[in-house]
Amino acid sequence: MITLGIESSCDETGLALYSSERGLLAHSLFSQVDLHALYGGVVPELASRDHVRRLVPLTRQVCEMAEISLEDIDAVAYTAGPGLAGALLTGAMMAQGLAWAIERPALGVHHLEGHLLAPMLEDEPPEFPFLCLLVSGGHTQLVRVTSLGDYELLGESIDDAAGEAFDKTAKMLGLGYPGGPALSALASSGDASRVKLPRPMMDRPNLDFSFSGLKTAAITRYKAFDGSDEQHAQFMADLAASFEQAVVDVLIGKSQKALQETGLTRLVISGGVSANRQLRAAADALTAEGVQVFYPRLEFCTDNGAMIALAGAQRLARGEVSELGVKVKPRWPLDTLN
Ligand code: KG4
Ligand code: ZN
Repeated sequence: MITLGIESSCDETGLALYSSERGLLAHSLFSQVDLHALYGGVVPELASRDHVRRLVPLTRQVCEMAEISLEDIDAVAYTAGPGLAGALLTGAMMAQGLAWAIERPALGVHHLEGHLLAPMLEDEPPEFPFLCLLVSGGHTQLVRVTSLGDYELLGESIDDAAGEAFDKTAKMLGLGYPGGPALSALASSGDASRVKLPRPMMDRPNLDFSFSGLKTAAITRYKAFDGSDEQHAQFMADLAASFEQAVVDVLIGKSQKALQETGLTRLVISGGVSANRQLRAAADALTAEGVQVFYPRLEFCTDNGAMIALAGAQRLARGEVSELGVKVKPRWPLDTLN
């Protein structure tokens, strides 16, 4: 069965074709980063308009790449939420319209389910059950994943998501948008022990996170710097490294705690921030404690159509379909999927 996956929940238009028998056949992505960079963040109306421009050409492109025609598609899966309402509507309309035209089923998929299943696109996929640390621009969650659709939220950020904290801190440091990768690149030449920053919520017994205070602490240290211009560049790198290390310490510390509490031995890290090298290095170190760690390949950490095609294929195989009609859920808690 070949599933076309459509992702349009935020600022990336992602299309992919996934075969239940042969795996990923083709995928293509258009990132709107340049479009939004001018404004320092995603402008929802511009995002929707650009998705409309890209959806049809990218669909044609993945069909050409996989050497199939539209009629060879058996089902269409699309991100139905959570995300920007207008952006979600463009993908939902495209999916429902195409599915209707080729007389195939369409299915709305949960964006975060796509992220947490994304490592299953790799050669050595994780088996159920596992703990998922889902770290994106909009969410930071620890989820007990028992089987497809059986998700228990163990903890989440009570304020900024990890990616959001990276982005906001980077913006204040003048690193542009989206700041996560830029801040991380700057951190690679810094000394993470130079600037003392808090490890929020680490001493709390629960599995929740908070990154807003850490962001403020980093910005306060930035504003308080009064060295020379030569010292400034190194200070910026040290501050970036110290910030990154603080985020990683908290994410890994809480994941360890969740592994201990649940008795799970597999850890999946997914979402945009799972592309972070320091986070991956710290997670890899957990293998010494008998934990198996899984991530998506770098290009499938951030938003993409492949994860939506895969999640859709798994649910379609269980006989799930969406009614004809364009319904999206900009707010949609993951644990209501059960
Ligand atoms: O999953 P994603 O593409 O979009 C959402 O669903 O939110 O995640 C995007 C987020 C952004 O906040 C971006 O700054 C962050 O992932 N990100 C990173 C890195 N690459 C992407 N954060 C830290 N280090 C990175 N290497
Ligand atoms: Zn995402």
